Amino acid sequence: MRYLILSDIHANREALSAVLQRVRRKRWDKTVFLGDLVGYGAHPNQTVEMVRALKPLVAIRGNHDKVCSGIEDGEMFNRVALQAALWTRQRLTMQNLRWLYRLPEGPVIVDGAFAIAHGTPIDEDAYIFGEIEALNVFRQTTFPLCFFGHSHFPVVFGLSPDAIHTVLTEGSAFRFRLEPGMRYLVNPGSIGQPRDGNPLASFGMLDTDTRTVTIYRVPYRIERAQQRILAEGLPRPLADRLALGR
Ligand SMILES: [Fe+2]
Repeated sequence: MRYLILSDIHANREALSAVLQRVRRKRWDKTVFLGDLVGYGAHPNQTVEMVRALKPLVAIRGNHDKVCSGIEDGEMFNRVALQAALWTRQRLTMQNLRWLYRLPEGPVIVDGAFAIAHGTPIDEDAYIFGEIEALNVFRQTTFPLCFFGHSHFPVVFGLSPDAIHTVLTEGSAFRFRLEPGMRYLVNPGSIGQPRDGNPLASFGMLDTDTRTVTIYRVPYRIERAQQRILAEGLPRPLADRLALGR
C-alpha cells in the first residue's frame, strides 16, 4: 500500500495545489492527514474541500481545526493565531465547519499498519521538537511507526534497542528505509507554513511494500499566498513568515 501523508496545510491553497500537482502522476492508495487543515492562511474553504475530495481519506484534527470550528476558544493561542482562527471561523461554510468539528482526535491507527497523531499520540496539543520528547513518546507507546505534525518541522526519530537517532531530511525527495527492529516517529513537515528555514511545502509518502518513507519538498507561488493573506486583512507576520520558512 502507498499512502500520501499530508500535515499542517493551514489554509494555504497555493501550497496544497503545488503538492497535488507534484503527486499527479504517482499512484497512491490512501490519503492520510495529520491535522491543522485551516488557520493562518486565506483559503479555508477551498483547502477543506480539496482534502475532502482525496478519497479514501483518513484525517484527524489539529489544534487550529479545534479553535476554527469552535471546539475550543483559543485562549492558549497568541494574538496573531487567534485573529486568524476567528476570521477562519466566520469564513467557513457551515458544511466545512461541521466537517472540521467532527474530525477525530488522534491517535488513529491506519489499516493496522501505523499510527497518526497531531502533536503526539499521548497529547494531541503537545510538541515533539527533539529527542527528549521523542523518547518520552516511545516509552509511553508501542507503535512501531507513528506519523505526527504540529511542529511544522520535517524530521525522523528512530529508536533502536540501544539508541535514539535523529535524521533531518534534505533535498527535494529524501527517501529512507524503515529497518526491522526499529521504531519510528516521523514528521512529514508542513505544507502550508514550513518552519525549518526552508519555505518549500513539505509532505510525505509511505510505501508499506518496500518499507520506505519519502519526504518531498515542493516550490509553490508563495507571493500569491502572501497577497491573499494581506488582501483578506489577516496579520502581516502570517504573510512574511511564508517566505522565510519560519
Ligand atoms: Fe500547525
